[in-house]
Amino acid sequence: MENMKKKMILGALAILMLLPVHAQIAWKQVEPGVWKGVVGTPEDYSLLDVAAVTPLKESFARLPEVALPALANEIVGSIQDGKTSLRIPLQKKEQLYGFGLNFQTVHQRGKILNLHVDHYGGKDNGRTHAPVPFYISSLGYGVFINSARYLTVYAGSGARKDSPNAPVVKDRNTDKTWTASPYSDAVSILVPAPGAEIYIFAGPTPMDVIRRYNLFCGGGTLPPRWGLGFTQRTQKLYTAEDVEKEADEFERQGYPLDFIGLEPGWQSKAYPCTLEWDEKRYTDPAGFVKTMLDKGIRINLWTNPYISPESEAYKEMYPVSGSHTVWCGIVPDLAGEKGRQLWKDKLEKEHINIGVSGYKIDEVDGYDRYVWPDVATFPSGISAEQMRQTYGLWVQRTTADLYKKRNQRTFGLVRASNGGSSSFPYVIYNDYYSHQDFITALINSGFSGVLWTPEVRGSKSAEEWLRRFQSVVFSPMAMINAWASGTKPWSFPEVAKQVKEYALLRMQMMPYWYTEFARYHFDGIPPFRAINLEPGFNPEQIITSELKTSNLEDNPYLEAIAKEIKDQYMAGEYLLVAPMFAGQTKRTVMLPKGNWYDFYTGKYVGNGERITVSPGLDRIPVFVKDGAIIPFMEATLHAPKAGQKINLEIRHYGKADGAYRLYDDDGETFDYEKGVYSWRNIKVTRDKKGRLHGTISKAEKGKPNSIATVTWKFMTQE
Ligand code: GAL
Repeated sequence: MENMKKKMILGALAILMLLPVHAQIAWKQVEPGVWKGVVGTPEDYSLLDVAAVTPLKESFARLPEVALPALANEIVGSIQDGKTSLRIPLQKKEQLYGFGLNFQTVHQRGKILNLHVDHYGGKDNGRTHAPVPFYISSLGYGVFINSARYLTVYAGSGARKDSPNAPVVKDRNTDKTWTASPYSDAVSILVPAPGAEIYIFAGPTPMDVIRRYNLFCGGGTLPPRWGLGFTQRTQKLYTAEDVEKEADEFERQGYPLDFIGLEPGWQSKAYPCTLEWDEKRYTDPAGFVKTMLDKGIRINLWTNPYISPESEAYKEMYPVSGSHTVWCGIVPDLAGEKGRQLWKDKLEKEHINIGVSGYKIDEVDGYDRYVWPDVATFPSGISAEQMRQTYGLWVQRTTADLYKKRNQRTFGLVRASNGGSSSFPYVIYNDYYSHQDFITALINSGFSGVLWTPEVRGSKSAEEWLRRFQSVVFSPMAMINAWASGTKPWSFPEVAKQVKEYALLRMQMMPYWYTEFARYHFDGIPPFRAINLEPGFNPEQIITSELKTSNLEDNPYLEAIAKEIKDQYMAGEYLLVAPMFAGQTKRTVMLPKGNWYDFYTGKYVGNGERITVSPGLDRIPVFVKDGAIIPFMEATLHAPKAGQKINLEIRHYGKADGAYRLYDDDGETFDYEKGVYSWRNIKVTRDKKGRLHGTISKAEKGKPNSIATVTWKFMTQE
């Protein structure tokens, strides 16, 4: 009898073990407004560990105090089949943003994504350069899954039979609003591991959510000033003489240039790479780098991490590389200390010690054939899948460390990234080339703690060339990538003058760009971001009549994307940029509530409305908020060096009073982390006669001060 009972209990237990285990999550506050919850047994290897995030603690104090969002207690996790599924509730009117670097839509509700590091293949299916498992809700909270696995996300698709908010059943024969993917009341995420770590970021606003995420990841990156100047990537197979000549040509023609990127050809072998200079094209690498530095131009090196059998590093790296090769090159196991150290030593010895200022680290994303297969193994024991999800993080972290150690800032390019990377000094790029989708990616980068450049390569016409150039000037990295095309800023003589004007505008706006990046660092505010984050923006404003008939019950995805704005964005605190694309002579611009002014003339343009503009080829439409204060400097060909003084021209727009804090530091080192920086208060108010009047606070003694003289320009004439 006893035995029988025992057997029955054991049997019942066995059945229970086969059923998914639903667990209520215990939330632990880890920073103000940031909570961590654990389901099952998460893996040791995670995105945040690889990125080695160190929260910027002191900055959280500047955000409003918040309580754990109520939905946290409704999040459930269950484990079945060695995998964890998470269910995070959604409300009817909620919109979702983020899930990494998407190229075609800003709203993500209703999508099914497989978050997988890859080269973007033309479809927003989760395979992208930075498939960051982080989303932000329009209701003002965010969710991050700290897993280095390929995650499957049902972003409000898939309805449970026991849902209290189930979609309405419809007859496909008779009801036109029938849809294959009806409304769902939750985001479901499948993590292929027996546990997961989840983070909740509170608002109250979606912008606050993003700020907390970026601050949690160490604060956004603060590039050196030169990183915000202009950069040209020269054609492949260039020699030292070709590069020097090109730099001289920029100078002679009066186009700004801060750094040059060398593309394949500087190494003795590429694909796989030796990491060693080609002796014929670069007979004296150290002398070459020095000559360039003397011209005021820094050198950035293209490479991929796969090491050629012809490299001196090959033999030693062999035992600490993966089981599979990439184009016959070995893959350094960067998750292991030894592999990382050997890679660092090589870069340091060959490049950094002779003055190279940064890297473009290519081919760390995928295309599947361009990386190791998922069956590869690595000596560190990290699986091929986890390595694929984190290799971009590793190359950023290791190279960033090398520069940090020298107290020298860098700013470079990378083709893969993931969660936790906000503080890495890298900008993502790719081989895709849709100007429109590049702008949508720029918008989405702001939701994921990454930077993106809509780089200019070639163009079919002078019009396209100028349109692309105008956009890249209002982005994190103003760049021509001429590796294949050999283009120069002046390649289309019909628009060479306009291109120069915009390249110089980039330089004139340096104090603004630099301050906005300081805000990215200290406050977590993305310098380039969606209009959806702008106070005064109301998405309901843009619902067109045909949409009035649809709702989230019918088709969440279609409704969401029909409401979105994916071709205009905010650049810094005050600017709304609305790029023009080749073939367009006019476009509409959605202005959030508040008075907006034309960037070039200071004239009033509208308030909380959709306007149509036809600016002509010479202008990219840019609009400015009422009361904006935008610091300009003279148009120089190189960014100011540490300690160099500039003449400030402070522009004010609109009728409202204005206040701005202008950031300053040496622009080159990490001394700002020790408090060696300053913020100058700029104010514009009206005097008794109603005339605008500007003031700037005095430079603090012993603090960095790059300002020589100040002039004022009140752009909006009454
Ligand atoms: C590509 C990269 C290009 C260029 C090229 C050089 O993979 O995306 O920007 O660097 O390699 O071969």
